[in-house]
Amino acid sequence: MQNLTELETKWKGAAETAGSVDALEAIRVEALGKKGEITGLMKTLGTLAPEERKSFGQQLNLVKDAVTAAIETRKAALGDAAIEARLATEKLDMTLPARPGEVGRIHPISQTIDEIIAIFGEMGFGVREGSDIEDDFHNFEALNIPKDHPARQMQDTFYLPQKPDGSQMVLRTHTSPVQIRTMQSEQPPLRVICPGRTYRVDSDMTHSPMFHQVEGLVIDEKTHMGHLKGCLQDFCRAFFGIDDLKLRFRPSYFPFTEPSAEVDIGCDRSGGELKLGQGNDWLEILGCGMVHPKVLKNCGLDPEKYQGFAFGMGIERIAMLKYGIPDLRTFYDADLRWLKHYGFLPLDVPSVVGGLTR
Ligand code: DAH
Repeated sequence: MQNLTELETKWKGAAETAGSVDALEAIRVEALGKKGEITGLMKTLGTLAPEERKSFGQQLNLVKDAVTAAIETRKAALGDAAIEARLATEKLDMTLPARPGEVGRIHPISQTIDEIIAIFGEMGFGVREGSDIEDDFHNFEALNIPKDHPARQMQDTFYLPQKPDGSQMVLRTHTSPVQIRTMQSEQPPLRVICPGRTYRVDSDMTHSPMFHQVEGLVIDEKTHMGHLKGCLQDFCRAFFGIDDLKLRFRPSYFPFTEPSAEVDIGCDRSGGELKLGQGNDWLEILGCGMVHPKVLKNCGLDPEKYQGFAFGMGIERIAMLKYGIPDLRTFYDADLRWLKHYGFLPLDVPSVVGGLTR
């Protein structure tokens, strides 16, 4: 019978000294592949006497596990070495001065977020951020979206692998969980906006699996729908730079607000071109409403005492409208020519006093 110690030493040694990922894969095939040496021995087990089969089989399995482990360890090491090599060749010295005549650009998403913060900052809003990975409670349950709610299908969700207790984290499908976290950790009066990345299983000209939203939340004892309308009207007029921009609040439904509305801005589509602030047409840009009493309760706030409004909008969408960017996917192509065309100069910092970017 084959000396199993020798066999193990041979293949472990081969794995440990493999010089590349390809060489290592060749060794794996020779040892453990369909026609590999160890696999071949496994196949002979059936021909042995029962007693012999048991002890030889057990030992052979140990060899197989040891060789598999050695291959995995070497694979990880080779992978690390490959990354190290890449990092060494792609090293950038960030302290070097910029090349004369070459000025970097601020991405339109960053610029738009800065503009939104500048406008709401003037109105007394603070900024809050959550994390991209959320639990079911904050992304759904606390927002009055129970397990069987159709809104769960509306937002095609990326789920992370199941945890031992059966629960699953998600990539947040909206920025609304940040309003939950804010209400849980701070006392009213609250006046915050929450910009950030969001994720949905969706990809075409107008949808990207990763996109950005900004959430707004105001909670105190007196804020009503009139304040919501005034606040969003001021924001839209400042953001688009159109003083008499018309807004339409259309009744709608969101599980976390009651009543809920969608906001359209006035536009003109005649002649195949979209012009904001003119004509008699409408374009939807955001969702909003009065925070549902159940949501307040879920966050430990007394709905008899506190009330307020919330809103949410897509940042790419309003950036595309304001800056005439036709295709959503180009935002993430990292194409330098695109960035030179649509990007902003680093010193072009938006502020309401200094004038927003036009
Ligand atoms: N969370 C909604 C979405 O992703 C957007 C939204 C609508 C947020 C209404 C709100 C709101 O806070 O009141 O589609």
